[in-house]
Amino acid sequence: MAYEESDTVEANRVTDWVNDWDWLDPAWGSNAIEIWNSVREQCPMALTERYGRAFMPVTMEAVSAIANDTVNFSSIFVSVAQPDAIRRPAPPITSDPPDHHGHRRLLLPSFSPRRIAEMEAELREYTQQLIAQVRAKASDSPSAGSAGSAGSATADAAAQYSQHIPVHGIAQMIGVPDSDADLFRDWIYRNFQLAPRDNKVREQVTAEMRAYFFDLLDKRAAEPQDDLATLITNAEINGEPVADELKVGYLLLLLLAGIDTTWSAIGSGLWHLATNPGDLARLAAVVDDPDDMLWLTFTEEVLRYYAPVTMGRKVIGDTEIQGCPVRAGEQVLVTFPAANHDPLAFEDPHEFRIDRAENRHVAFGLGIHRCLGSNLARLEMHIAFHEWVRAFPNFALDTSEETTWTNGQIRGPRNIPVLLEG
Ligand code: HEM
Repeated sequence: MAYEESDTVEANRVTDWVNDWDWLDPAWGSNAIEIWNSVREQCPMALTERYGRAFMPVTMEAVSAIANDTVNFSSIFVSVAQPDAIRRPAPPITSDPPDHHGHRRLLLPSFSPRRIAEMEAELREYTQQLIAQVRAKASDSPSAGSAGSAGSATADAAAQYSQHIPVHGIAQMIGVPDSDADLFRDWIYRNFQLAPRDNKVREQVTAEMRAYFFDLLDKRAAEPQDDLATLITNAEINGEPVADELKVGYLLLLLLAGIDTTWSAIGSGLWHLATNPGDLARLAAVVDDPDDMLWLTFTEEVLRYYAPVTMGRKVIGDTEIQGCPVRAGEQVLVTFPAANHDPLAFEDPHEFRIDRAENRHVAFGLGIHRCLGSNLARLEMHIAFHEWVRAFPNFALDTSEETTWTNGQIRGPRNIPVLLEG
């Protein structure tokens, strides 16, 4: 499905990132790291009036102060948006204490290291099938041998590869069919790329997702299966059944949080390798050993350097962040990706070091809302990188085409044109 970016985007481009930031500006997608670095040289937090009054912290100190303070910052509004945007509960990410704990405890066991490790063999097999499809399409493609690709077969490592793996992973866990994957990708696009600017799109896409998941709850109530949808259908907290509204919220969150986040991280890692042949050669040299430490340090450095997820909070108590006063009713970003580039937190943060030994990045967040799916995300990333490099140890970016990056809450390459035999 094709979508047009809004015509008003061009007219509203940001010229002053310190006093008028906008995470929906196209420059956020392509230049976010430079933007955060330049703001950080001037102050710890930027301001905008575009969403009502909203702040954008760029230091580890500010980001961690917000994420760890659930008294003054509420997650009920978990994304900075237009003040009149409708918000529906998607626990635990939209829950504050004391409710948060019960919702999180209900879902946590399904994401334990042991449960996720059990998925490895199936996910690897699925990923190998994707690679086979990429090869088959490349050899059929009329573009193989064209002037633009200098004789090498081409592929889109986002559309044909990274965008599929996390959909498959979370669909398997929830218990929804892979054949609905296009529907899920469409929801994600509308939810993260269009809805922030357009409340009508938000209402429409939310209604479609809710109808799908209410129906799923009905199906599992009638016929239980061994999956997360059934666990959620039967959910109780402290012996009391959870309301259907909240059950749908869990499902909606797991689907949205489980897909775009990880495909952006996988895509960023592949884009990095496509543009950094030295790092690709180092991984290719250890391709026979998927347990080599370099796969692990590479995955963690991708998470630090290209962290895809920025969250939001609503200020509920007047307070200050790094000396800057904020008042109840205002909004703040929780700019985890910007904190990952703070020179006070990391040695040479501007350098992508494939073997960075100490890497206490905050890509998965901090505090009580720290990512529930981090084990799954790491497994999917590790398999995706390893299988791709094994198949295409010399791939490179096809510079005859442009890569565009998504902006807003989840940042990653939307397309990754590559030459399979760079
Ligand atoms: C590279 C991939 C991922 C990144 C970078 C990421 C990042 C994050 C971040 C930053 C948070 C904190 C939210 C906040 O403070 O408001 C979070 C929470 C969460 N993530 Fe992830 N995530 C990823 C993958 C996943 C996956 C695969 C799932 C599986 C469904 C998932 C499920 C969740 C859930 C349920 C929460 C809410 C936890 C809570 O509120 O207690 N995430 N994630």
